Amino acid sequence: MHVIKASGLYKRYGNTVAVNNISFTVERGVIFGFLGPNGAGKSTTQRILTGVTKPDAGVVEIASYNLSRQPLKAREVAGVVPEMANVYVDLSAWENLMFVGEVYGVGKKKRAERAAAMLEVFGLFEKRHLRAKGFSKGMKQRLLLCMALMGDPEVLFLDEPTSGLDVQSTLIIRELIRDYNRQGKTIFLTTHNIEEANQLCDLVAIINRGELIVVDRPENLRKTFTSLQTVEVAFQPQFISPDLLKKTDVTKRFKKQGDKYIFYTEHPGQVIFSITELCRSEGVDILSLQTLRPSLENVFLDVTGKLNESGGKENDR
Ligand SMILES: Nc1ncnc2c1ncn2[C@@H]1O[C@H](COP(=O)(O)OP(=O)(O)OP(=O)(O)O)[C@@H](O)[C@H]1O
Ligand SMILES: [Mg+2]
Repeated sequence: MHVIKASGLYKRYGNTVAVNNISFTVERGVIFGFLGPNGAGKSTTQRILTGVTKPDAGVVEIASYNLSRQPLKAREVAGVVPEMANVYVDLSAWENLMFVGEVYGVGKKKRAERAAAMLEVFGLFEKRHLRAKGFSKGMKQRLLLCMALMGDPEVLFLDEPTSGLDVQSTLIIRELIRDYNRQGKTIFLTTHNIEEANQLCDLVAIINRGELIVVDRPENLRKTFTSLQTVEVAFQPQFISPDLLKKTDVTKRFKKQGDKYIFYTEHPGQVIFSITELCRSEGVDILSLQTLRPSLENVFLDVTGKLNESGGKENDR
């Protein structure tokens, strides 16, 4: 059964098509990653899914409720951490939670129980009576997540929940997301952090310039892109002329990255063979050589057309 169903979502701002005919479904209990570069349309999509922005076209169903026809029902089952959200800074952590709990219609006793339990888990219990004004960014973000969870939502929408946080806060938040998911809840996670998507998500949708390019498991994405296997070589002497490298027949694409050369290929064995031949004939030594399977990062850069821009010199033949 799906908890989110988006059909033909479209949203334009002036001449910018922020969301261009996007459709997808998210099954119950899944962590669904919504991954894309800056300006791709991620936040606009999340705002449409959570009823904050009205799409120009398209239909959203949340837990089988039609968002435009049954907005209250649909929003009741959703918890949201929007982009650039803020807590009520003049209220304490405790007051923030009581306020949101009331909005969600959680009874007084339940509110207090839930807030106390969550603040404990989120490491904020000791500071519950301090004004949120004095909270660090990581503490505020944790409090926001607590607030989104106050209504015990069926589905949790998070827009870049770990953006700008340090490693420790990031790890805490990721673990909380996993914990919540273990209770059978569905998570819609907007992020531009590929590693975050890789570590957390059952399914990843890649969006670019308003269009949904692909939806698949991270591992399938890697498998599909066999042309993105890489052979990474450091030569001694360090620099090899591109003309010489082009002589390695099997290598379709390569680039210099730091003090190494990266070769993209479907056939790493053949590339290694050619490189070895080249080195032997030119009297060049190999300092290090390793083969790597496609990273989600390379898949992402490739499908968003950014692989060739990602630093170093790229040579397409
Ligand atoms: N309220 C708005 N008014 C005008 N243009 C907007 C508005 N909201 C979004 N846009 C435009 O729509 C496009 C998509 O923006 P959106 O915020 O959805 O991207 P994003 O993927 O969330 O990017 P980021 O990673 O930077 O958060 C951008 O070109 C943006 O300028
Ligand atoms: Mg955004």
